[in-house]
Formats: sequence, C-alpha cells, structure tokens
Amino acid sequence: MFERLKPVPIDPILGLMNSFREDSRHNKIDLGVGVYQDDSGQTPIMTSVKKAEFQLLEDENTKTYQGMTGDSDYNDRLSSLIFGEDNPILKSGRFCTLQAPGGSGALRVGAEVIARTKSSPAIWVGTPTWANHIPIMEKTGLKINTYPYYDFETHTICFDEMIEALKKIPKDDIVLLHGCCHNPTGADLSSDQWKQVCATAHRNGFIPFIDIAYQGLGNGLEKDAYGIRELASQLPELIVASSCSKNFGLYRERTGAVSFICNDSDQTKIVLSHAMSSARSLYSMPPAHGALLVSSVLGDPKLREEWEIELESVRLRIQLMRDLLCEKLRGNQKGKDFSHIKHQKGMFSFLGISSEEVDTLRAKYGVYMVGSTRINLAGININNIDYLSECILKVI
Ligand code: LMR
Repeated sequence: MFERLKPVPIDPILGLMNSFREDSRHNKIDLGVGVYQDDSGQTPIMTSVKKAEFQLLEDENTKTYQGMTGDSDYNDRLSSLIFGEDNPILKSGRFCTLQAPGGSGALRVGAEVIARTKSSPAIWVGTPTWANHIPIMEKTGLKINTYPYYDFETHTICFDEMIEALKKIPKDDIVLLHGCCHNPTGADLSSDQWKQVCATAHRNGFIPFIDIAYQGLGNGLEKDAYGIRELASQLPELIVASSCSKNFGLYRERTGAVSFICNDSDQTKIVLSHAMSSARSLYSMPPAHGALLVSSVLGDPKLREEWEIELESVRLRIQLMRDLLCEKLRGNQKGKDFSHIKHQKGMFSFLGISSEEVDTLRAKYGVYMVGSTRINLAGININNIDYLSECILKVI
C-alpha cells in the first residue's frame, strides 16, 4: 500500500535546520529555526532548569500516568505567569488549563475544541503567520481565512487595514493573534492597538485565539502578556496556547499548555471535557518531564529569581544583536534600510531581501535563513556579526 504515497515537502523551517546541520563549513551561520543561541553559538540548558532537573532526579518516585490534563501545579503556575498572579479570572470558575505537548500540541487541542463547536467554523490568521499555524488548524477541519497584518514595504503592522478586516469578521469566528514577539515579523501590537482589537472583538463577537510562545523575550515577562491580560479582562471567551520551549529553553521536552476562558463555570467544565477527549485521541497524555521542571522553577522563589535573571539576559542579548546588526548595515552604499530590525521584538525579523539573495547567502556563504527572509536574531553573535553583515552587503 505504501507505493500509493507521494512524498510531501518537508516543513520549510525544520528542513532548513537539517540542511544547516549537514553543512560542513566552519563559518556557517544559523538564522533559521527559532532556537536561542548564546554568544558562543550554543543553545545551553538554563542553570535554573538544570538545578530543577537535579532536584527532580532526587525527588521523583514514580513514572505512573499523569492524566490528560497533565500536572496541576504546572497548569496553575504557568497560568499565573501568563495571566498574572492575582488575576481574578484564574479562580472565577470560568478558566481552565490543560498541559499540552509544546505550543503546537496546545494549538492543536485548542483547534480541535473549536472544531467541535459548530459545523465548519472559520479561523482568521494574519498574513504572514508562523509556517505551522495553517497546517495545524487545517487538520482539525477549520476553514482558514486571512486578515492583513504586515506591510512588507514599510516593515510595520498595517493596523488600519487589519482593524477594518477584523470589523467584518462574523460573530463566533475565531481570530488567531500572536501574544508577543510576532513570528515571523517581530512586529507587535502596541497597548493601544490591543485595546482596539479587544473593543472590536467585544463589539462584533469574534473570539481571539492567542498563541504566546515567546513570553519574556520581547519587552519582559509582564509587558509581553499585556494583550492577553487585556482580552482576558474584557471578553467572555478566549483561548490561549502557550509554550515553554523558548523562555525555559525546553524545546525538545515539548512543554506547553492550552487555556480557555468560558462564559460560565458549567461551560468551562464542558470545554475541559472536550479538550481532554481531544488529547486522549491525539496523544493520550502530555509528556511529564518539562512540565515538572517548569513547575519546580516557578514554585521555588530562588530558582524563579535565577530563571528570571537568565531570561532577561537572553532578551537583552537578542536586543543587542538587533542594535548591532542595524548599526553594521546602516549607511550601506546600496541605499537599503534595515532600521526596522532595531525596533522589532523577540527572536525574528524579516531582513527584506529577495529570495535569490537568500539562496546566494546560503549557497555561497553558509548563511541560513527561511525563504521569507525571516532571520533569528539569536543566531548572531559578536564573532559572526562582521562576517554576516559583510555577506548581506555583498549580496544585496
Ligand atoms: C520557529 O518558528 O522556528 C520555531 O517555532 C520552531 C518551529 O517549530 O517552527
């Protein structure tokens, strides 16, 4: 039977990661997959996480099943991190969280629940969005529509067009938004723009589904959650998919969660039962290890303080690379403006060069970035920034 299968193209981001690994050039630069690299180009385990791991090795006394909602301490502590320690919504009975296998698993469970609410529900995604959003949503049968998000000419959010499009979205349709550190553009909504999105959702009745995968890497842990907290305080219904891949460096441990805010406590119980039944048929139960580490770090004041300091240094290093790259590319003879990179947030920005130039950078110079020209700023360091900027200036 397998002879009937045709090969499918590999995911553009993960395909690039494989090609980079196979490249034997010593001066190659990885600006592809969204993984943090430090000044020496390594992706280290955070010290706070490593300490929690040693502790877990000592303390863990069973590997029995956890259940479909995962670890309840993890769910509570992560929810507090995202929604705010004292947010009344957490204890209102209108809120529930289910641990999920990474941000992707969280998005999928959220989409599965949406798909059960009515026949052919629609989800609206901004253009552009993360390369895996549409495949995840489509698999559940959601109808994909788009709204304008980014102006490739000005490298800013085309907010007027976006809000006009949102105003036309029918009641009960879903709108996918990035909580912070927009992937792939790095262009985030301002507080005032979040307020306008919130007011439009309130007036027109669409339901936001927020993906927050980079909390702490943009403006800091609290500020990065502004949009979510604003929507959570105003709207009757909300879905949030979160990930600890980046802010805890737990990529391969698949550590995420999906949270729902519902109209009342009865609906919340029903929604949770659907999330659990979706999880059961997809993967049964989430992997435990990463969630136990996050729970330990967040639940221990000393570890938490250490983690917050580590995360802040990650954030500041990325911002420094943004500033330095702009400086190196500024005043180039080709008249090209890269200044948007300095003002954007999180791991990514579009370099804004042509796809031929992206290909040349990879083939000739070993500089890897996604075809859309998305660059991971964390792949830049003090040792490769001169080479990188020279290569960029050579190809443009
Ligand atoms: C990325 O956008 O590079 C990351 O979120 C990794 C992935 O799974 O695509």
